[in-house]
Amino acid sequence: MRIGILTSGGDCPGINATIRGVCKTAINHYGIEVMGIHSGFQGLLSKDVELLTEKSLSGLLNMGGTILGTSREKPFKKGGIVDGINKPALIEQNMRELGLDCLVCIGGNGTQKTAAKMTAMGLNVVSVPKTIDNDIWGTDFSFGFDSAVSIATDAIDRLHSTASSHKRVMVIEVMGHKAGWIALYSGMAGGGDVILIPEIPYSVHNISETIISRLKKGKLYSIVVVAEGIITDGKKHAAEYIAEEIERETGIETRETVLGYIQRGGSPTPFDRNLSTRMGGHATELIVNGQFGRMITLKGNEISSISLSEVAGKLKLVTEDDDLVVQGRRMGVSFG
Ligand code: F6P
Repeated sequence: MRIGILTSGGDCPGINATIRGVCKTAINHYGIEVMGIHSGFQGLLSKDVELLTEKSLSGLLNMGGTILGTSREKPFKKGGIVDGINKPALIEQNMRELGLDCLVCIGGNGTQKTAAKMTAMGLNVVSVPKTIDNDIWGTDFSFGFDSAVSIATDAIDRLHSTASSHKRVMVIEVMGHKAGWIALYSGMAGGGDVILIPEIPYSVHNISETIISRLKKGKLYSIVVVAEGIITDGKKHAAEYIAEEIERETGIETRETVLGYIQRGGSPTPFDRNLSTRMGGHATELIVNGQFGRMITLKGNEISSISLSEVAGKLKLVTEDDDLVVQGRRMGVSFG
């Protein structure tokens, strides 16, 4: 048996640990050959591949990024036909020519959609959810999220001392276009006073009231954590916009920080390494059992899987009844 593996979409900590989990299980336990496909679906279209060996899988557990490279190539976009090339048909042909019995797709929401479409074409695919955003439907957590939250929390911790010294409001922007998971988890873990996420509407007046009431209680500084995807004037970064609005409304000196790609780079946390290892190993097991068209999931502490047709096109968003939101509100955290 021979399988292919690719990584697609934005990189995140834990991809290499997942590649290692899939491939070591395949090679060591099941005697399956593994072809690494470079640059996501781009490499599947151009047959840019390499045979993965025990040697090429060494030293991956704690390594950030992806050894296979990634791209945001979406082969089904615009009906799949671009410049006269029928990309889905080319993928089918290349998988046959490369002798791939199944393709493992490691990726985020876009990748799950592509994997579902390949399954509908009759191709053998299994996938692993990967995103720092944690917004993939059907799984409690995707690997990469814990690492991003850990980096963002460290940044918030560091902002506390400078905010306190200068008696300022500090606004920090973290990633999350549609889902506010990183802002919620790092904001709560870092003791943020105001947390703004795309799922919960805010008003500058409410934010300012929280900051002023803290001031009246002798708390001379405040930390505001915002997700990049909150509604703004559409011209500025979320943090810049919110910082300006707060300063205008309260008169308190306010500064902003945009964390950016730092939260996606570098080594995965131990939690993400072990999640990646487990998800990778279980993905290989799905293949051996002939359970194609499925995405690996984590539910509670159990690894399972869900049909790709159920996942594709959905987003897992923060809801008002999320326990961290409920507990945060009770303790005086403002969600805007
Ligand atoms: O989906 C992961 C993510 O890091 C988002 O949080 C972020 O908004 C986006 O990717 C950035 O995309 P790009 O790498 O294309 O700039």
